Amino acid sequence: MAEDTTVLLEEKRVFKPNYKIVEEAHIKNWEAELEKGKNIEKYWAEKAKELEWFQKWDKVLDDSNKPFYKWFTNGKINMTYNAVDRWIHTSKRNQVAILYVNERGDEEKLTYYELYRQVNKMANALKSLGIKKGDVVALYMPMCPEAIITMLACAKIGAPHTVIYSGLSVGALVERVNDAKAKIIVTADGTYRRGKIIELKKIVDEAILRCPTVQTTVILEHTGIPIELSDISGKEVLFDSIIEGEDDKCEPEIMDSEDPLFILYTSGTTGKPKGVVHTTGGYMVGVSTTTKLVFDIHDDDIFWCTADIGWITGHSYIVYGPLLVGTTTVVYEGAPDYPDPGVWWKIIEEHGITKFYTAPTAIRHLMRFGDKYPRLYDLSTLKILGSVGEPINPEAWIWYYKNIGREKCPIMDTWWQTETGMHLISPLPVTPLKPGSVTKPLPGIEAEIVDKNGKPVPPGKGGHLVIKTPWPAMLRTLYKDEKRYIETYWENIPGGVYTTGDMARMDEDGYIWIQGRSDDVLNIAGHRIGTAEVESAFVSHPAVAEAAVIGKSDPVKGEVIKAFLILKKGYSLNTALIGDLKKHVRHELGPVAVIGEMVQVDKLPKTRSGKIMRRILRAKEEGLELGDTSTLEE
Ligand code: WT7
Repeated sequence: MAEDTTVLLEEKRVFKPNYKIVEEAHIKNWEAELEKGKNIEKYWAEKAKELEWFQKWDKVLDDSNKPFYKWFTNGKINMTYNAVDRWIHTSKRNQVAILYVNERGDEEKLTYYELYRQVNKMANALKSLGIKKGDVVALYMPMCPEAIITMLACAKIGAPHTVIYSGLSVGALVERVNDAKAKIIVTADGTYRRGKIIELKKIVDEAILRCPTVQTTVILEHTGIPIELSDISGKEVLFDSIIEGEDDKCEPEIMDSEDPLFILYTSGTTGKPKGVVHTTGGYMVGVSTTTKLVFDIHDDDIFWCTADIGWITGHSYIVYGPLLVGTTTVVYEGAPDYPDPGVWWKIIEEHGITKFYTAPTAIRHLMRFGDKYPRLYDLSTLKILGSVGEPINPEAWIWYYKNIGREKCPIMDTWWQTETGMHLISPLPVTPLKPGSVTKPLPGIEAEIVDKNGKPVPPGKGGHLVIKTPWPAMLRTLYKDEKRYIETYWENIPGGVYTTGDMARMDEDGYIWIQGRSDDVLNIAGHRIGTAEVESAFVSHPAVAEAAVIGKSDPVKGEVIKAFLILKKGYSLNTALIGDLKKHVRHELGPVAVIGEMVQVDKLPKTRSGKIMRRILRAKEEGLELGDTSTLEE
């Protein structure tokens, strides 16, 4: 039998942190911290002490009703009190909490004290509109301070929010709002994107006719385009008018650790989106700890996560994590390449960003424009970089490391999911790095790679990535669908472990390499090959900018590769290049990576968080229904 080819693409270089990073780091000894994390309850209890609790918990972890785990039982706490209120009695009172920048060059700064007052006014306004603890508030908003103010206002009064990404369409909005039975939608006139204004209120106007639970629509005048208020289906009020005259003090609601904080919808493998439910205490402990340790946050940091608040990355690492550790969080509204592909690097220089967190798809996109743009700006304030969302191919890693990090900044390749709430597998700044590997589970986290029977696979072999023990920010259930929660996450693989749905392998040093989703793994003549690895092989060829790979059925081999390729400027997919690419991929992955077909495309179907939707490519290929396309970018 031929050997498993998944090991062949492994990047061998190891990058050690420079002395300055180690000198500054909260955690200087990675191994010692991993060791400490082995006592899970003790570890997380210690981290929980960094937050202010109204009442201490009885038990750190209650596993008496698996898989409905509870954390910090009977602990009483409030998210917004910890993320905002507690800082106004410290030297952080006048520090910038939110630094808003948009693609037009507009800027706005809110100090912790200003944020505190705005949040209180909005919290009181929501109460005046009849919102009580437990009522769901939907947000359909641009990336702007008011969106964050609204999230924090909800958390202050105990009203779970459900943020719907502002790029989703009417159908997706209706489905989510109705599933969550939201009482209010907070939206805006529009949002800026690549020099245009996307009219959000128009989309809400259409959606609202099919959202019977919504009593009030709150509209923020953000871009200044004319809007019409109507009362056809429920009350419409302006954001500014509801907060005007409200008191700028508001007592925080005393929340139980296990009271829901928010619901966030994510697409499953099929059909209906899943309403992932996150609760209060454990989520706070998980996101504050990972923000502080993975990005090594200190008082003078300016933290920029380029995600959108409509995704979990935005919830955990634009809003809650950064504010819980009292740093300055950057909120950017716009595209990464408008007005030109240097816009992000310009912002880094202008605002002296120290920690920068983005996605491989953005890096690969910006890489296509070469090093011209990053060279135009002084990026020397950067200390730590981050990556999230999909496996980062070594080429993109190296480009990011060299051109953005100037070979000084370690890259935190953070593996996690909407469901996990917080980073689970990631290096710390002092960890020796291998480009393309997410390294090891964080302290306090236990992961394993197993076969479908739950038996650990040997190093070098691909298998299912599972999480063996509960973690504080884990999802608690799927909204109103306990059955699906149990089936999706806890019954796929025996042994009471959490199924991530990802395939991965471990190398001889115990480093984890994510291969992609389990439904995206190809089987060619009995060999397992991750689509992400084949794509990485394609992208490592100088002619290829982006690649998506699916399995194409083959009468002899079961499956062969069909590749959809975006080529760099000046290339076309002629016979010579086809031959060259076949040779290249064969060289990178070995003879088992059999390519059946290559096609040149201009665009790939992607989710708005940048993941390639191979399912769409497969469905088109096989002439099947496209299924749920609500998260498709365009
Ligand atoms: C899936 C979760 C949570 C962040 C945004 C996406 C993939 C995430 C990595 C990484 C390789 C990654 C996995 C995971 N993923 N981070 N660093 N390396 N793959 O959240 O939409 O819930 O997607 O994204 O496949 O299961 P999400």
